[in-house]
Amino acid sequence: MPSPTPHRWLRRPGPRTPSGEQAAPGTHAPTGLSYGADYNPDQWPHEVWDEDVRLMREAGVTVVSLAIFSWARIQPSEDTWDFAWLDEVMDLLHENGITVDLATATASPPPWLTTKHPEVLPQTRTGETLWPGARQQWRPTSPVFREHALRLVERMAERYADHPALVAWHVSNELGCHNVYDYSDDAAAAFRAWLRDRYTTLDALNDAWGTAFWSQRYGAWEQVLPPRLAASHPNPTQQLDFKRFSSDALRDHLRAEAAILRRVTPDVPVTTNFMVMGETKGMDYAAWADDLDFVSNDHYVLPGPQALDELSFSANLTGGIARHRPWFLMEHSTSAVNWQPVNVAKKPGELARDSLTHVAHGADAVCFFQWRQSAAGAEKYHSGMVPHAGERSRLFRDVVALGATLRDLAPVAGSLQKPARAAIVFDWDSWWTSELDSHPTDRLRYRQEALDWYSAFLALGVRADVVPTATDLAGYDVVVAPVLHVVPAALRDRLTAFVEGGGHLVTTYFSGVVDQDDHAWLGGYPGALRDLLGIRVEEFAPLLDGESATVELAGEQLEGTLWTEPVDVVDPDVEVLGWYKTGEQAGRAAVTRRTVRAGDRTGSAAYVSTRFGRLGLVPVLARLLDDAGVRSELPAAVRGEVELAVRTDGTDDYWFLVNRTARPVEVPGVTGDVLAGRRLAAPATTGADAPGALLLDPRGVAVVRRAAEAATA
Ligand code: GLA
Ligand code: GLA
Repeated sequence: MPSPTPHRWLRRPGPRTPSGEQAAPGTHAPTGLSYGADYNPDQWPHEVWDEDVRLMREAGVTVVSLAIFSWARIQPSEDTWDFAWLDEVMDLLHENGITVDLATATASPPPWLTTKHPEVLPQTRTGETLWPGARQQWRPTSPVFREHALRLVERMAERYADHPALVAWHVSNELGCHNVYDYSDDAAAAFRAWLRDRYTTLDALNDAWGTAFWSQRYGAWEQVLPPRLAASHPNPTQQLDFKRFSSDALRDHLRAEAAILRRVTPDVPVTTNFMVMGETKGMDYAAWADDLDFVSNDHYVLPGPQALDELSFSANLTGGIARHRPWFLMEHSTSAVNWQPVNVAKKPGELARDSLTHVAHGADAVCFFQWRQSAAGAEKYHSGMVPHAGERSRLFRDVVALGATLRDLAPVAGSLQKPARAAIVFDWDSWWTSELDSHPTDRLRYRQEALDWYSAFLALGVRADVVPTATDLAGYDVVVAPVLHVVPAALRDRLTAFVEGGGHLVTTYFSGVVDQDDHAWLGGYPGALRDLLGIRVEEFAPLLDGESATVELAGEQLEGTLWTEPVDVVDPDVEVLGWYKTGEQAGRAAVTRRTVRAGDRTGSAAYVSTRFGRLGLVPVLARLLDDAGVRSELPAAVRGEVELAVRTDGTDDYWFLVNRTARPVEVPGVTGDVLAGRRLAAPATTGADAPGALLLDPRGVAVVRRAAEAATA
């Protein structure tokens, strides 16, 4: 169990004062769960502001994220500044007891800047310019943009340093949402600098990039370019390094803004909103987390059969990135978004359930995009806390009700994600590399594979943490590392030590295949993990669309798709758990497990050579968990229907029970004080201290406080 290491959270607001008067800011401490939204008063006439704060108070809003897209309003031309309106909004919020996570306002440059300096506009790999008219039209590496942005940051920091409403800084917004890959000349120059830093010599770069291939050898740094549109497959290591560089370039921007904020307002914590969700993969957030005082995330539900699993997975991974400490859910939606092909409204119960699922995985703040649904602009069909229909709406009533629930959950604030016994490892290098072009199949989806394993955990009612690769794995009994494609020697050694320490590792096809430079490990697959797994594969055998191979495992017939391999069992301690029954591999091992004894510890290393998908993985995972002695903490009757997530403050554990169905569900046998939800009276037939069942409403969530159990991990 992680120790609650010092962690900066929202600065406690200073005492309330009449407008204009500045109170001394207080100390940092959690004050219950926070609740609120992005607030864009500059989209509305002044008279709406009073209405806004009245409704915010009714809803129990405690924090808003302000001025995110206000650059053009704050700085209408290069040498004019208009803070009067923002001063007024800050004061108004403070007078009403609402704190402010103030944006640096640099997210989208104003038209005067891009007109005067078109050289800040990003360019695509095909050389097209991303023109103004939408948002985030700036090159992460543009020195001109950086200079103007930092000037604004400094002004904001100086102006509001002592404002009593200010509790945190919100750097830019969703860095890299639209501009992560820029192929401009600025990017080329910065990429070269980044490469010189990584490789020092051109020879080292040539080796890493394998430029002996296709006559790519570089004779001078000036010859090196971003992977712009090319005649055929661009060099894969060049592509991988460009992804690493692009993530680092945005991180560099984050650091530059944060440095100014920390200089001017050392007391005010700094955050920025990540996008740990879906296929947003350009930013290696695990690497960014240490640049923030606390992690924030934005998440939107992606409709489909795994919508809820994906939400939980993303929240769980955000907690992993935050090292199990509390994080800030900066944005999600009260109902529909506007950017999917079809934007479905949330069904009754979903607004609260989705929010509380984030809290279950460590969110100490629940905020939405946005406070008031816009009347104009590209996001006018995106839901808000106050919809077009106004306060007399089911949506606003649900918003008010959620505010009350969050107040009831105040004791949860500050508690940590309680480590599970199992973890899924999530690796940005493997995500980026496994999906590059010119591979055995272009159908592989890294995050989908990880999500499918997570779905199997949910189906079995077994908690699993989702953690970045750098996380210390020693406390876990079972670690699943799906498609862990990039395995440098150091990672191989860590995984080997985990298994030799008695841990149970599970990995899959296309794992261990390449090193940090995307060079194949030689001698047979799965490369770096071959010895640990005790198997050897001479050639991949991916499947065409519509093809499948039957695998028999634990008496079940499962269908493998996407990938198969002729697996040779090499080590005598390898047991075959699943056999191919059909197709080219019929009669061969499909799922294997090597038992590893070291001293008095017995660990194992299992390998799954095909894709079973979220349903097919359930029996596979059940077998592996069973043998490792990892069991569900939920009553058998509700496994799969109810998700359990646990937070802990060391004294108390907080059990979050999330009803994944649209029916009421009763959960028997869970003791503890009910902080949210309801408990039925115990039937007369049961023992005197048997607790009544928890009754979860359709899509409902119960939260129960119990004496902390010793962490099992
Ligand atoms: C052609 C080219 C080779 C190689 C192969 C790949 O034969 O001449 O260089 O790219 O295609 O199939
Ligand atoms: C993100 C952005 C917001 C808004 C929403 C729409 O959260 O930060 O500005 O565009 O997406 O879903």
